Amino acid sequence: MKSITITTPNKVSKILIGERLQNLSEYIPQGKTIIVTDENIMKYYSDVLPKFPTIIMGTGEKHKTLETLDFIAEKLVEQEADRTTFIVGIGGGIVCDVTGFAASVFMRGLRFGFVSTTLLSQVDASVGGKNGVNFRRYKNMLGVFNQPEFVICDLTMLKTLEMNEFLAGFAEIVKAGAIKSRSLFEYLENNVDAARNANEEVLENLVYESVRIKADIVEADEREKGERRKLNFGHTFAHAFENMADILHGEAVSMGMVVASRLSTSLGLLSKAEADRIKGLLSQLQLPVNPIISIQQALIPMKKDKKREGDSIHMVLLKQLGEAVIVKVTYKNLEGAVYDLC
Ligand code: GLY
Repeated sequence: MKSITITTPNKVSKILIGERLQNLSEYIPQGKTIIVTDENIMKYYSDVLPKFPTIIMGTGEKHKTLETLDFIAEKLVEQEADRTTFIVGIGGGIVCDVTGFAASVFMRGLRFGFVSTTLLSQVDASVGGKNGVNFRRYKNMLGVFNQPEFVICDLTMLKTLEMNEFLAGFAEIVKAGAIKSRSLFEYLENNVDAARNANEEVLENLVYESVRIKADIVEADEREKGERRKLNFGHTFAHAFENMADILHGEAVSMGMVVASRLSTSLGLLSKAEADRIKGLLSQLQLPVNPIISIQQALIPMKKDKKREGDSIHMVLLKQLGEAVIVKVTYKNLEGAVYDLC
């Protein structure tokens, strides 16, 4: 097992890579504990969950809503949760996001931790303290920054993921390499077959390196005033794609990174050869690389993106593999650049 500590002004968050769900009890403080998980985790792991009261939410992005928050709050009241209750979210990014949000606002905040069970949530979603729900058509519009006390990344649980869900997690690993670490990107390029076949040593290295990159960024800029924006590489387009079609977050991020790389090239930042390498690696990971809607259509919901500031948006672009830059562009200029791309 490897561990990484994220220290922010209000919290210390321990990320345990290679720890097992079976050891969860070792990390939970004395006193009342309530688990929040989803139907899918119950299907595969109900017999190994510790025997705490358990709230079961639905599976999938459609449950990342205020209604689910309402449901969890109602169950917490029924279970007589109080300010000393510890909450554990067990699941992928959606369970962790909603659980962290519920724990953060219930009685003005309970302590909480996660067991992160998908590749995407282990390398990105459950790490770094972003918790929240979608609001109407807008992704993560309601939420808080609040670090979990621990995140257990149980690599053995990745074996029960559907193949498309497993592969979608690699999009965030490609992102981490593209924005901050050429060596991570090249390690994945050189071990792509082993990674796809879930080789445990390769997966542990990939998860560890991705979390290490994210931890450094979050420690420097927890509340996304500058450096953390780089973690949104490809995400502005991705959120627009997700808005329009029923696809996995990682699949949308894959398409979004291809568009953002092309934009970087067309603005004279990234070489075409490196943009092609990104697209090539995503293709080898069997991730979609062609936008499902026209890029012009994608611009419409982008105007509602949280990263909007007046008539501009912060776009994350690449100068080279392993080096991202944040560029503030007006929608007008973005539309022009996108028009040229098409
Ligand atoms: N997923 C991007 C972030 O945590 O900032």
